Amino acid sequence: MAILQVSNLVKTYGKHNTTVTALGGVGFSVDKGEFVAVMGASGSGKSTLMHLIGGVDRPDSGRIVVDGQDILGMDESALAIFRRRNMGLIYQFYNLIPTLTAEENIMLPFLLDNRKPDPAKLRTILETIGLSNRARHLPGELSGGQQQRVSIGRALINDPAVILADEPTGNLDSKAGRNIIELLKLANRKFNQTLLVITHDENIALQADRIITLSDGAILNDERVNATSDETRISQARQVSSGEASLPQAEAVHPGFAQQNPRATAAETGVQS
Ligand SMILES: Nc1ncnc2c1ncn2[C@@H]1O[C@H](COP(=O)(O)OP(=O)(O)O)[C@@H](O)[C@H]1O
Ligand SMILES: [Mg+2]
Repeated sequence: MAILQVSNLVKTYGKHNTTVTALGGVGFSVDKGEFVAVMGASGSGKSTLMHLIGGVDRPDSGRIVVDGQDILGMDESALAIFRRRNMGLIYQFYNLIPTLTAEENIMLPFLLDNRKPDPAKLRTILETIGLSNRARHLPGELSGGQQQRVSIGRALINDPAVILADEPTGNLDSKAGRNIIELLKLANRKFNQTLLVITHDENIALQADRIITLSDGAILNDERVNATSDETRISQARQVSSGEASLPQAEAVHPGFAQQNPRATAAETGVQS
């Protein structure tokens, strides 16, 4: 079932002769529980896409349906409430409130709604993000990686339809970054949490189920990832090109290989083209 459907999304910035088309008609859908990585060069429209899906900004035209609800049909206050209750937003620079403790930051979507989360739920989240013993600390007393964990906790507290993360590891060293991705993957497995993660890092993208690549405000590529078989295919292709494996083997793991690689075919059959 599609939890997110985006169609024909167009967003331009500026006026008249200074118009920039950030998104020129983007469409795709995401199933519940999918982990989708969004890649693309700087300026390709990734953050714009996230702001539109997250209901932080509105497109010029197009349609966004989250969990069966057309979010562009909502007025500002309905959209703000919808966003708070159904979307989990994670940014590169954490966006925590410095005067609130870790625990209060996590509960923020509830506090803004004048509601209190179930204490058991809060405990589960603190355990999941590994910060049970830092619950009363202020963001300034936490490392970057820990602060990003808090923002993941805040995203998870409402069981959002979709978590949108814009370069969540962009400000972290590689070890803290790996921990953050492991945590997002855990949320994906443990809570069947749908994830849309913008990243520049191919190693992160290859851990997703699917990679959508944007270029100049359009989808250049949208493909499933199967890390193991991709690695197998790449290493087999390498072996073929270095003469270590047979062409039929390469053809078996990568149909069309022979056609795309006439020189390998020639080497295999002994026929010079
Ligand atoms: N608020 C804005 N005003 C004007 N142009 C913007 C604004 N935000 C983004 N853009 C432009 O839209 C394009 C896409 O930007 P963005 O979505 O931030 O790309 P990415 O996140 O992939 O780097 C870029 O050309 C950028 O300069
Ligand atoms: Mg960006």
